[in-house]
Amino acid sequence: MELITNFIKIRGTFCIEEIPKPTGFIIFGASGDLTARKLIPSLFGLFEKNLLPSNFYIIGAARSALNDESFRQKMLNSIIEKNKSDYISNVKLFLEKCHYISGDYDDPSLYKTLKQKLEALDKKAKTKMSHVFYLATPPTVYRKIISHLGLAKLTKENTKLVENVRVVVEKPYGHDLQSAMELDKTLKNVLNERQIYRIDHYLGKETVQNILLFRFANSIFEPIWNRNYIEDIQITVAESIGIEHRAGYYEKAGLLRDMFQNHMLQMLSLVAMEPPISFDADRVRDEKVKLLRAIRPFDREMIKKDIIRAQYDRGIINGREVPAYREEEGVKPDSNIETFVAAKIMIDNWRWNGVPFYLRAGKRLAKKVSKIVIRFKRVPHSMFKPLTPDDLEPNVLMFHVQPDEGISLRILAKHPGPKLCMDSLEMDFQYSDIVKGELPEAYERLLLDCMLGDQTLFIRDDDMEVSWSLFTPILKTWEKDLDGKESSPLLFYPAGSWGPEKSEEILKRDGREWIKI
Ligand code: BG6
Repeated sequence: MELITNFIKIRGTFCIEEIPKPTGFIIFGASGDLTARKLIPSLFGLFEKNLLPSNFYIIGAARSALNDESFRQKMLNSIIEKNKSDYISNVKLFLEKCHYISGDYDDPSLYKTLKQKLEALDKKAKTKMSHVFYLATPPTVYRKIISHLGLAKLTKENTKLVENVRVVVEKPYGHDLQSAMELDKTLKNVLNERQIYRIDHYLGKETVQNILLFRFANSIFEPIWNRNYIEDIQITVAESIGIEHRAGYYEKAGLLRDMFQNHMLQMLSLVAMEPPISFDADRVRDEKVKLLRAIRPFDREMIKKDIIRAQYDRGIINGREVPAYREEEGVKPDSNIETFVAAKIMIDNWRWNGVPFYLRAGKRLAKKVSKIVIRFKRVPHSMFKPLTPDDLEPNVLMFHVQPDEGISLRILAKHPGPKLCMDSLEMDFQYSDIVKGELPEAYERLLLDCMLGDQTLFIRDDDMEVSWSLFTPILKTWEKDLDGKESSPLLFYPAGSWGPEKSEEILKRDGREWIKI
């Protein structure tokens, strides 16, 4: 395996990056939005950084009647759009690696054509290849594609031409516990867990990956990372966009499925898990799953008290009037789908006993911002009379997930002047200080890891099962309980706000409030 090792001299930074073995990358759903917006620009990003193997090709497969040439033109447009430039060096070389086949996902002849194409390209490479099949289609056809790949023997490893085969499955991974398990069963009929890459793009974000390094590469945080020093943890993922053109998907999903079951829970598990014994995929994922298992299951009482669901009404975003969710194209005028959720989560283990985790996420909120806020306890005694401990603001550590990625720590310090003069200061680290331009796209990391066979940043089967087990009872209750007798009723909030006022109440009840972010 080729290995690039960069020692960046500033403050002894140490970077290791590897180049995957020869790979054929097959994208189902190649004419769709995800391919154009994320997959192709990210693969091109890797290509530009010389992180793709020299033997590399892409085969796009989809229903749309494109050919190699029109597919390449479409991909070129998406690369130009992403890079905001008409001239991008190298792009021609990259596009030459892109091929296209069209057909119906349910038609065996698509897989026959694919097999022939793969064999031809693999033979040309004159070396054993890895195949990555990426499911970027609507989830309704995942099972069909997997079964056909199995029938066509395209999932077989260690053949004459192919060393290994991996399948990347986009979210949503199922609709609830049962459907997720059914999908898993279909995959496991033809693949083993080592070959399955359940993707959650939040895990590829630099700032989310940094949680692990921050916690476990420094010695000063771990001793205070527990109930003795931490008052509460708050995770917010706010978006100002609405559902864009995704009403069809969103009307079936809603925010709890779209953001909580995956992104929110993944961030929570990284913040709260025990230290893994190594940076190996399964050791890290063991700890994440252990943590998820320790989350207190939501009983009827908690579903009613600790979870708020709401939907956006008309409002103003960036000075522009925007419609209510129920007025969006493709949304039922009486839809009960939630676009905002706030929840209090308790973790029943030694480390977190009694520490509430408050999570909220929503569409059409005041601004786009994702933060993880660790609020420490107040000092137990104040020597600065007449100030009492309650007058001394607690320390707050923030992971700025996006935008303005970074980490900050709020501390009290002396303000120059009078003998007793205190100020709350922010020690602020911003990634923009050390990296020029935008941070790498999350998909770049994940696509590269998948080609390298590293599953650390992908969801394991038990993780997927526990997270669905936690949220399925809530979804089932909400589905039946339209008038909100058994759960919290659906509330409404104006677009451009921070969600319904009631979301403050979950914290107020505990004598706390959302930290301003
Ligand atoms: C996706 C959700 O997984 O994440 C979208 O389906 C959401 O609804 C998106 O907008 C948010 O991702 P990011 O990276 O923009 O925070």
